[in-house]
Amino acid sequence: MVKTSFKFLTEDNQAVKREGADVIQGLTQTPKTLPPKYLYDDRGSELFEEICELPEYYPTRTEASILRQCADEIAEITGSCELVELGSGSSTKTRFLLDAYQRIPGFCKYVPIDVSGGILKSSVLQLQHEYPNLSIEGLIGTYEQALAKLESITVPSRMIFFLGSSIGNFTPTDYNRFLTQISQTLRSGDYFLLGVDLQKPKAILEAAYNDKQEVTAAFNLNMLSHLNWRFRANFDTSLFRHEAIYNQADAQIEMYLHCLKSHWVSLEILDLNVFFEVGESILTEISRKFDLAVLEKQLEFQSLKTLKVWTDQNQWFGLILCQA
Ligand code: AVI
Repeated sequence: MVKTSFKFLTEDNQAVKREGADVIQGLTQTPKTLPPKYLYDDRGSELFEEICELPEYYPTRTEASILRQCADEIAEITGSCELVELGSGSSTKTRFLLDAYQRIPGFCKYVPIDVSGGILKSSVLQLQHEYPNLSIEGLIGTYEQALAKLESITVPSRMIFFLGSSIGNFTPTDYNRFLTQISQTLRSGDYFLLGVDLQKPKAILEAAYNDKQEVTAAFNLNMLSHLNWRFRANFDTSLFRHEAIYNQADAQIEMYLHCLKSHWVSLEILDLNVFFEVGESILTEISRKFDLAVLEKQLEFQSLKTLKVWTDQNQWFGLILCQA
């Protein structure tokens, strides 16, 4: 039976308080940091969709071109299975996979998962229109909540996929924890498909995260507007400037908000007042760039065996299919 549904996995008061604890910790340490999840309220998700279309931001279109070419092969390798997408956003690239899986017999269900309820709902409704025979169950929540929920569902076979190199936004600790959780959620024989941005010259990377139209700047500054409504804060975004730099030693883009004038900010709901010194910076996101050989070893360490890797002709982006 075809059905479309949504479940909220967040939004109780306890969860909001726990998230707030991250903010308190990040803003009271030196140097200051903020968790990148706050980049994604509904406005942030819209801005991210705009980033994906920018001429300098190569990851989305490069990954899409790889997927366009290898989607049928992926479906042939895995056969019919439930498709679970982490951080599905607008599910744009997912259509290559959905089309390929519709061409093989027995495909039944797509489970998109995203923290942003607005974008998830609109994309699920659009997909249901485009794929009337497909069951879609949207889950609104974090990866941890969604993966924990999946464990209890019994399906014959499942492929969890995580595109767009979002895994690059995890700290090394969260990255290891995430791979462990994936490995523990998958049953033997299930699949994991991972899209990763690869190491490349600094100039290409820095251009991608400091675009000329300043959409990435708006995306970064929107994090402060998000904190304003969520925690009744009074950040003035005009007192901060966006910058992204490539840290070659750690192979990661680092996105900062630099403070332009010394001032106090209050976050009422968190009972927090924070002083920002002129010139001081908040680290808002890292975006790690991968080496395929190293990544394959890390996956193998988590009992995820690489079956096949696809890249583009410049070797800028990689897609890895693993089996548990
Ligand atoms: C979602 N994530 C993979 C993006 C990235 O490239 O790290 C987020 C982003 N930040 C700035 N531009 C895009």
